[in-house]
Amino acid sequence: MSPRGQLILIEGLDRSGKSTQSSILTAKFSKSKLLKFPDRTTKIGSIINEYLTDKSVQLSDQSAHLLFSANRWELNNEIIQLLNEGYFIILDRYIYSGIAYSLAKYEFSKRNANDSTVTSTVDEQIGDVNWLIGPDLGLPKPDLTLFLTLDLAELSNRKGWGEERYELQEFQTIVKKSFLRILPTDTDDSIEIVDVNNKNIEQVTKLIWDIVEKKGVNALTENPIKKVSI
Ligand code: TMP
Ligand code: MG
Repeated sequence: MSPRGQLILIEGLDRSGKSTQSSILTAKFSKSKLLKFPDRTTKIGSIINEYLTDKSVQLSDQSAHLLFSANRWELNNEIIQLLNEGYFIILDRYIYSGIAYSLAKYEFSKRNANDSTVTSTVDEQIGDVNWLIGPDLGLPKPDLTLFLTLDLAELSNRKGWGEERYELQEFQTIVKKSFLRILPTDTDDSIEIVDVNNKNIEQVTKLIWDIVEKKGVNALTENPIKKVSI
């Protein structure tokens, strides 16, 4: 088989600059494609979009979690095919957002038992990382994952903040903790944390590209596509 493209994931909090950086990174490769999750253009994505933009829409936390995962499975074949055709795929959010946001709902709902904006109930599945990863097992695993992190005070000043479900400062603080808890940076050297505090767009772009080069994900590879596993 001929060499394949690589799968690069950019994760981060809402408004952390990951969409900007994902687009810039995509443009660095001549044969590349940017995929954003949730992908709101699919059937399942349209339900997710309604859930995120209309705070009166109620879904159980388990259902919402499974829909986000199902939305990734909708694109599974396309991702594999594009990689095999030599495309570099940049993902703007993926499995770690899935786990971190659901896990954060569990923490949030314990603290705010009467507030249903973010979450419905405190259910044990939503606090259980093994349950949360379950539906994503077997999806293509990114060759490199970058988590953009910054201080929450800087985040809430950014444009557009607060429009969607989940864009609450208290909730984002918990989301950040959840990401840092679940990302296995000690044991998995394909995962890197990128501190973007007090850095402009160009500086962050350079930080990201340096890591991409250092990890060798800027060139085609003979390695088989990895799968998400425990
Ligand atoms: P976006 O702002 O990047 O379009 O993502 C919309 C929201 O969906 C964001 O608050 C993060 C959340 N999310 C999940 O809760 N689970 C997931 O699996 C993904 C991909 C996103
Ligand atoms: Mg958002």
